[in-house]
Amino acid sequence: MSQIAVEDIYDHLGEEKLQQLIAAFYQGVKTDEILKPMYPADDFEGAEYRLKEFLVYRLGGPQRYLDERRHPALRMRHAPFAINQIARDRWMELMKRAMDQTELPADLRQTLEAFFDQMATFLINRAD
Ligand code: HEM
Repeated sequence: MSQIAVEDIYDHLGEEKLQQLIAAFYQGVKTDEILKPMYPADDFEGAEYRLKEFLVYRLGGPQRYLDERRHPALRMRHAPFAINQIARDRWMELMKRAMDQTELPADLRQTLEAFFDQMATFLINRAD
């Protein structure tokens, strides 16, 4: 199976599919006992929008995220949330479930999963 670069995913996937993926992910977050309390109860839509716009930019689409939020600084922006191995694994589990539901082509899925996997590990900021 040929490899696809992270920066080429947006062109292959398109914005609508990406939107579907993030919507499916947040459906999972909304009922998750570990993750739900971390997200702003009164601004779930905003959280969904910020992650979607970040991914549009990071996966090679329009750079609107940078105009609105400047440098992603994701380690810093996640510092207020206690992300241990368990929270990280749950985030990945929900994202994998969302990817299953969105039925991504296998090569895109492989690249995207590896990207999320690395990023999620990078964002761990607490011991268990
Ligand atoms: C490891 C487990 C993770 C947890 C528990 C977590 C949790 C959170 C929470 C609670 C927020 C605040 C929601 C808001 O925007 O109001 C947030 C924001 C965000 N997260 Fe995560 N996250 C995780 C992993 C990731 C990963 C892997 C990525 C990227 C691939 C990511 C990208 C983002 C982005 C882009 C934002 C918005 C940043 C901004 O303010 O512009 N997160 N995350």
